Amino acid sequence: MKGVSTPSQEDYLEAIWRLTQKKGYARVSDIAEALHISQASVSKMIRKLKEEGWLEVERYRGLSLTSKGHAKGQLLLARHQTLERFLGHLAITDPAVVHHDVEGIEHHFSTETLKKLSDLVTFIDQNPEWWKKFINRSSLIP
Ligand code: CO
Repeated sequence: MKGVSTPSQEDYLEAIWRLTQKKGYARVSDIAEALHISQASVSKMIRKLKEEGWLEVERYRGLSLTSKGHAKGQLLLARHQTLERFLGHLAITDPAVVHHDVEGIEHHFSTETLKKLSDLVTFIDQNPEWWKKFINRSSLIP
């Protein structure tokens, strides 16, 4: 599901990190495809991210993240995945809904809150019986 707002700097860094993990590099065309936007918009944002020290542009190899960009990308992906796992525990299974909701809320979580949510998600993973008691209440069964 496509959001109504334009992708933020964080979305770019997350997408670049995902691509780098998967392919070893990120190209403008790959980023445009991942974020459903034009290559011109990507190029514009790339210039800004480069100026701010998040990435390097290598002439033949595409983009690579600086160590600051690398650390940030890792954090952004972890945040996205924690929220996905949380929605999964709430029995929200439609991938389009999960994607839409996570993309919508992820930017608004502070590191502190996310750490606590991450703790909860891990606790749920470790205590499935306890969580089932909650999830099996009729109000939450779809
Ligand atoms: Co995301």
